[in-house]
Amino acid sequence: VTVYVPRDAAAIALGADDVAAAVLGEAEKRGIEVNIVRNGSRGMFWLEPLVEVATEQGRVAYGPVDPADVAGLFDAGFLADEAEAFEHPLAQGLTEEIPYLKKQERLTFARVGITDPVSLEDYLAHEGYVGLKRAVAMGSEAIVQEVLDSGLRGRGGAAFPTGIKWKTVAGAQAVQKYIVCNADEGDSGTFSDRMVMEGDPFVLIEGMTIAGLAVGATQGYIYVRSEYPHAIAALNEAIAAAAQGGYLGDNVLGSGKAFGLEVRMGAGAYICGEETALLESLEGKRGVVRAKPPLPALEGLFGKPTVINNVISLATVPIVLARGAAFYRNYGVGRSHGTLPFQLAGNVRYGGLVEKAFGLTLRQLLEDFGGGTLSGRPIRAVQVGGPLGAYMPQQQLDTPLDYEAFAAIGAMVGHGGMVVFDDGVDMAQQARYAMEFCAIESCGKCTPCRIGSTRGVEVIDKIISNDNRPQQIHLLRDLCDTMLNGSLCAMGGLTPYPVLSALNHFPEDFGSPAEKAA
Ligand code: NAI
Ligand code: SF4
Repeated sequence: VTVYVPRDAAAIALGADDVAAAVLGEAEKRGIEVNIVRNGSRGMFWLEPLVEVATEQGRVAYGPVDPADVAGLFDAGFLADEAEAFEHPLAQGLTEEIPYLKKQERLTFARVGITDPVSLEDYLAHEGYVGLKRAVAMGSEAIVQEVLDSGLRGRGGAAFPTGIKWKTVAGAQAVQKYIVCNADEGDSGTFSDRMVMEGDPFVLIEGMTIAGLAVGATQGYIYVRSEYPHAIAALNEAIAAAAQGGYLGDNVLGSGKAFGLEVRMGAGAYICGEETALLESLEGKRGVVRAKPPLPALEGLFGKPTVINNVISLATVPIVLARGAAFYRNYGVGRSHGTLPFQLAGNVRYGGLVEKAFGLTLRQLLEDFGGGTLSGRPIRAVQVGGPLGAYMPQQQLDTPLDYEAFAAIGAMVGHGGMVVFDDGVDMAQQARYAMEFCAIESCGKCTPCRIGSTRGVEVIDKIISNDNRPQQIHLLRDLCDTMLNGSLCAMGGLTPYPVLSALNHFPEDFGSPAEKAA
């Protein structure tokens, strides 16, 4: 019998390793032979550790499983696919029929949770490397055109068209070009990059190899934050297997083209997720932002033309090549084509990963998938797009998840992370937190961010304590304007989003504690 127990860091944090050991131990005791596959997570975190058993009808899920539950599951005959097992309190039925999963449109995440992440054989058996094979036959220009036609935009948050970025690098003349994957996923409440790297590392490797062929780059680097040791391990194992299989190396699939790949570990700075600071760090220097221009596409790593893309952008390329640009483009709305793996976190009942086509509303995501707050109290605010994203109030929850619709109301979809707050939240404290976060994480290169964020914390404190409040609010708006327009990068440039959205949508929170109590 094959039993699946995730190796995903979230599942492990909830005890998946102990559960896997308990299943093996119990099976041995009872003389039953089991084959345990450590798969990726299905992204339904309230059910982790989620144990799945392969049956003739499909996989049957049990969760959240505690090691102490394992003997009982054996008694109920969960491996033998017995009726009694389906009555077990932890039984969730067929995994694919769980509504949270069934209602999704999983393209980038098609294999996550299904395959053995580090088995090349399993990857190949699930449409793996179909995209690369097609790319090899197409040639560089046609690959870039296909990515352009798909409408894929940068999934790190900025939503810049991936095909245009690739075209710039492809057109640059240089003896050496690079592909860099930004896996420094630092946004609060985001975990989609991690889940792909841990749950389907080959898809990222394949995407980067396709990028290499498209622009003429022979070397790639995956810059992973040090907080992701499980992702680093899975990537290294998969890279070795891909090289062994001829999918990486001097002659990728007999194309006569070379592509090599290495993982580099960051040292734990939020700013190293900013692309130019990341390149500095990759070159062995301190992670300080570089002025743009020159764009990394023209002068990037070691001064050479470089494609630098987020994990999800690169991991989406294989399906675009495998199924064709039109297939991908047909998902979504307006200029937001395809799907985005949204991440539900914070005070939410069903936290996890939801890959859906753009266009559903924020409310649908939070209520139909998220099930409202975990506390059961009303949702008061949702921060979308990480610590630099706006706080959205109830009256904005019907906004469709679409880059342009969000930009139109001064918010951003960003990397698709949602952090939910109930009516117990103090929005002045959240605004203060945003400024403080910026002050701590600022690389210090430019004044609006370095000094502005520190002054910003002080000004918010004065507003809260009603020290000349009207004047301080005016000053805060002025400061935000300077940071927005005068900062060198998105760190200082976007911090005003959470601050101003808190101030504009929740002005009642900016009174002193005594006033709020009254
Ligand atoms: P940006 O708009 O300056 O650039 C986007 C990308 O397009 C960059 O790679 C840039 O080099 C490239 N680009 C721009 N013009 C180009 C051209 N003409 N040709 C070729 N390439 C071109 O945005 P930036 O500063 O890179 O990113 C800001 C975003 O990062 C924010 O919107 C935020 O959502 C996101 N973010 C994501 C985080 C995460 O953990 N995923 C953390 C913090 C911010
Ligand atoms: Fe550095 Fe902040 Fe300026 Fe960005 S905005 S360059 S993080 S000081």
